[in-house]
Amino acid sequence: FRFSNLVCESYNATTFVFHQCRLKAVSRDRVDMNVNGTILSSINDVTLHIRVFKRENGFKPWLFNFKFDGCRFMRKNYVGIAKLMFNILKDFSNLNHTCPYVGPLIVQGFYLRPELLLLPIPTGEYMIAVRWFYNDMLQCDINMTFVYVEDIKAR
Ligand SMILES: *[C@@H]1O[C@H](CO)[C@@H](O)[C@H](O)[C@H]1NC(C)=O
Ligand SMILES: *[C@@H]1O[C@H](CO)[C@@H](O)[C@H](O)[C@H]1NC(C)=O
Ligand SMILES: *[C@@H]1O[C@H](CO)[C@@H](O)[C@H](O)[C@H]1NC(C)=O
Ligand SMILES: *[C@@H]1O[C@H](CO)[C@@H](O)[C@H](O)[C@H]1NC(C)=O
Repeated sequence: FRFSNLVCESYNATTFVFHQCRLKAVSRDRVDMNVNGTILSSINDVTLHIRVFKRENGFKPWLFNFKFDGCRFMRKNYVGIAKLMFNILKDFSNLNHTCPYVGPLIVQGFYLRPELLLLPIPTGEYMIAVRWFYNDMLQCDINMTFVYVEDIKAR
């Protein structure tokens, strides 16, 4: 269970720039995700769109596709599935505070391990696509691809 690809792209250089967006193989089973960006203008209003895809002759939508208000979420944790995802990530990032967001945005040393699985999933390659919108305009994209191989012996 590990990351296989990571792509970040900013579509609005006045709001957000990425300095680093990289996977680092630490061992055979562990690949760390490191993202370093700067939020250039204070963010008080952000819509997050999260989609999960599974590779089957190209990536096909799979199971999750939802949008939510990011600032409201940080105040109230009102979206169950996003809360699960955030709890997994928060100790590796500086995201754990409420809006406004400005300045460095860091995810460091985040890696996947079997105990993070939210639900049993079949062996395969998956992509989590996170898009950030501001006033309905796409500001940036982070696509995380990971592979998961079921451990048959564990059954
Ligand atoms: C991320 O994935 C989505 C969905 O496949 C795609 O539309 C988008 O172009 C990708 N973004 C980047 C930066 O590759
Ligand atoms: C870029 O972000 C700024 C706010 O930081 C906003 O005023 C502007 O409309 C955005 N441009 C695009 C193309 O999204
Ligand atoms: C993030 O990138 C900036 C600009 O390159 C750099 O000054 C800063 O030290 C980096 N932070 C981390 C935690 O790597
Ligand atoms: C930030 O982390 C603290 C301690 O883990 C937690 O109590 C708090 O609810 C978190 N805040 C958010 C916005 O998730």
